[in-house]
Amino acid sequence: MESPFKADVVKGKVALITGGGSGIGFEISTQFGKHGASIAIMGRRKQVLDSAVSALRSLGIQAVGFEGDVRKHEDAKRVVESTFQHFGGLDILVNGAAGNFLVSAEDLSPNGFRTVMDIDAVGTFTMCYEALKYLKKGGPGRRSSGGGTILNISATLHYTASWYQVHVAAAKAAIDATTRNLALEWGADYDIRVNGIAPGPIDDTPGMSKLAPSEINSKARDYMPLYKLGDKWDIAMAALYLASDAGKFINGTVIIADGGLWLSRPRH
Ligand code: HXC
Repeated sequence: MESPFKADVVKGKVALITGGGSGIGFEISTQFGKHGASIAIMGRRKQVLDSAVSALRSLGIQAVGFEGDVRKHEDAKRVVESTFQHFGGLDILVNGAAGNFLVSAEDLSPNGFRTVMDIDAVGTFTMCYEALKYLKKGGPGRRSSGGGTILNISATLHYTASWYQVHVAAAKAAIDATTRNLALEWGADYDIRVNGIAPGPIDDTPGMSKLAPSEINSKARDYMPLYKLGDKWDIAMAALYLASDAGKFINGTVIIADGGLWLSRPRH
């Protein structure tokens, strides 16, 4: 689908996207690249990174991949620094890396709970922590007079409660809290905007294939106001809005992009 944004809305910006090699992260990488940004993607799987980088380059996008696990502080630090060295700046950090599996709370080991908290919640904070020095107003490589921006991808499942997702709901709630608190502190001190996007079920993503066998999938459609799954494109457009100057006064907000699903109840 054609973008409603001008092709230069993030021109000259450097974006680092964790989990940027697949699913929603890859679509954000693609759309940011098509709208003028240079793209660094971070992920654990070399093959996924390599094919994502080739796909981006084939579209004429300046792209590079860095292997790393957001759970490892040294990886986060190395990838942020490598991005800065490669492109000479860092303007946008997108925290898209996530882990997930369906399991009842009684069958989930504390280590399973911790694993998802580590990837989603601690990983998001660690990346923000390492990126701060480059994103802050006046930081190394900053070409604009202001600060950079951060986007954290969460979900809506912690707004209520979700079956077999206690670990993920806890982790996504922590991400949203991190978004708001960093928006407050870093907005005030460093002119960095920190926002989030909470996607609903999005078609053709690792999350959907892992979490929603087809019968759950079609039940969800029955309840949805817009009566369909979202597209990765929908999330990427929300990301472009928040990361570009269109969102220059938006800070500490989590945009829910789910067609209204989390509000909905069966008709009676
Ligand atoms: C129960 C499980 C489990 C499962 C792992 N564990 N899978 N428990 N059911 N299916 C437990 C293990 O038993 C172990 O605890 C602990 O979790 C760590 O498992 P590892 O296999 O060692 O972890 P690791 O290899 O690091 O893999 C992490 C992962 C994996 C999260 C388990 O699935 C992963 O890396 N996924 C990344 C990709 C992904 O999931 N993308 C989808 C994101 S979707 P013990 O106690 O045995 O040691 C998304 C959408 C959310 O985020 C919103 C939805 C609406």
